[in-house]
Amino acid sequence: MRAQINPSILSADFARLAEEAEAVSGADWLHVDVMDNHFVPNLTLGVPVVESLRKATGTPLDCHLMIEDPDRWAPQYVEAGAGSVTFHAEAAAAPVKLAREIRAKGARAAMALRPATPIEPYEDLLPELDMLLVMTVEPGFGGQSFLDIMLPKIRRTRQLIAKHGLDLWLQVDGGVSQSTIERCAEAGADVFVAGSAVYGAGDPAEAVRGLRAQAESAAASAPWACGH
Ligand code: DX5
Ligand code: ZN
Repeated sequence: MRAQINPSILSADFARLAEEAEAVSGADWLHVDVMDNHFVPNLTLGVPVVESLRKATGTPLDCHLMIEDPDRWAPQYVEAGAGSVTFHAEAAAAPVKLAREIRAKGARAAMALRPATPIEPYEDLLPELDMLLVMTVEPGFGGQSFLDIMLPKIRRTRQLIAKHGLDLWLQVDGGVSQSTIERCAEAGADVFVAGSAVYGAGDPAEAVRGLRAQAESAAASAPWACGH
């Protein structure tokens, strides 16, 4: 398995975003957390910052929208230059229509589940998506502890992906670190968001390489990876 590591700039210095992006130029994607102070109790950044970041880095942008009314706002993030746009299942009024609109505009479409939201009601919708995000903390803040109770949901999601033969990435976000990434990879995740574990490290680029190596070796021995 090729593990993708997406550093979250939520843990970076917002006054030096271009340099912070450059510090992890070996990353697969840059994870951009958009919060509106309604869907989650925190406020971060919006479309203009994504437009500027797009010009400042060659690393593709993975925008995680923790906002209400993503049906209205998500297409604007594609226009701003995001390569992948994630909306929350709990916030979208018409997730199929929205995923199709994101794809039609040229980005990868992704849907996120809060910890208490099950995957099963969304089984039929999975072919409409390029990535499914299983949150491993309550969204809103960086630096929280990984929720081990999410591991069964990651496993069940991996099984659904295999059952339908989908080319769907499975992302985890929240508390992913050197001490938890192997459990996520063994359970079936293949895209890993890490904020504090990357930007809190002395050498962020080295942290990205280390996390990727850990995930790839853990997945190599996982049953779901056979024939992957
Ligand atoms: C939390 C955000 C995460 C956050 C992860 O709501 O969606 O992307 O930045 O930060 P860490 O890796 O520190 O838990
Ligand atoms: Zn996120």
